Amino acid sequence: MRYRKLGSSDLDVSEVALGAWLTYAGGIEFDQTRACTDAAFEAGINFFDTANVYGRGAAETAWGEILSGRPRDSYVLATKVWGQMSDDPEDRGLSAAQIAKQIDASLARLQTDHVDLYQAHRFDPDVAIEETIEALQKVVSDGKARYLGFSEWTPEQIQAALDIAGPDLFVSSQPQYSMLWQAPEAEVFPLGAANGISQIVWSPLAQGLLTGKYRPGEAPPAGSRAASEEMGGLIGRLMTEENLEAVERLRPVAEGAGLSLVELALAWVLRREEVAAAIVGASRPEQVHANAAASGVALSADVVAAIDAALGDAPVKEPLLAPNAQAGVKHRP
Ligand SMILES: NC(=O)c1ccc[n+]([C@@H]2O[C@H](COP(=O)([O-])OP(=O)(O)OC[C@H]3O[C@@H](n4cnc5c(N)ncnc54)[C@H](OP(=O)(O)O)[C@@H]3O)[C@@H](O)[C@H]2O)c1
Repeated sequence: MRYRKLGSSDLDVSEVALGAWLTYAGGIEFDQTRACTDAAFEAGINFFDTANVYGRGAAETAWGEILSGRPRDSYVLATKVWGQMSDDPEDRGLSAAQIAKQIDASLARLQTDHVDLYQAHRFDPDVAIEETIEALQKVVSDGKARYLGFSEWTPEQIQAALDIAGPDLFVSSQPQYSMLWQAPEAEVFPLGAANGISQIVWSPLAQGLLTGKYRPGEAPPAGSRAASEEMGGLIGRLMTEENLEAVERLRPVAEGAGLSLVELALAWVLRREEVAAAIVGASRPEQVHANAAASGVALSADVVAAIDAALGDAPVKEPLLAPNAQAGVKHRP
């Protein structure tokens, strides 16, 4: 496993990271979560990404139980705040009170006194950005997080925060990025690079599509995310005929390069130096090992060109409006 520096921090993170989203929030059994997490350590993965909202605390609780058995300095732990945590519609967002409450709740569930990375899961347009920044900075000055990051903020929102607090505020940005979702390359990548902010990218396998397990015109295989009632809700928008056909055209490219489709897909996101880690989900320990094998795989210019040709018009390249983007940025009067 290779490691990369996380933005301007002193953290070295494995370039293949493990994410907890649907799987460890209850999608798979606790014993499987433990087996996948153990497999990650075996493979040299040291970077673990979760969020308060994944299963409304369930994913953090599971990892708290599993990770607390290991030395705290043997892993880099990232979580997030923003999502709605109860049936109360106000129990969400990035106000000072919510951030103060949520960091303590996350640390209790994770059974630790600090996380290494605390991320704003989305932007909160209803709270003055100055209040959010100060509350996040307090989490760090209280010793409850070492560094700060954000996920899916627009360039305007990122720039507004940098204008107020300077480039040291954030070390990471967490956008969706894969062969099929290339939107952050245009603006978010360069803005991060200019400010010491690494990209740690989510759904780099397009939720499993880029593994080649889904075939055009066929039902999803049993046991896969798309076949799962609990976990399949959000994969549908990626399972278009156009995307499935593009993956079929990638098969010979991977074969020609002597790689699995999984290795091709992860090496493709890791080819960019702005990317510190590909955050991959896994429902089985074998998947964790297969994903870790992509670390250190370099793609030649010819292979990258063949991938572009195979993908055709399938990838999303235009930045779409992230949730809350239209609302702009609220400032303190
Ligand atoms: N910041 C955000 O807003 C945000 C949003 C989404 C995700 N994330 C983060 O990104 C992480 C990864 O996201 P993701 O799970 O959607 O994306 P992914 O890594 O693109 O897809 C993971 C899924 O693909 C399948 N898979 C993985 N490795 C495989 C292999 N070697 N062979 C065959 N199938 C394999 C598994 O599904 P099955 O076995 O179940 O089919 C697995 O759950 C999340 O856990 C979370 O930490 C962040």
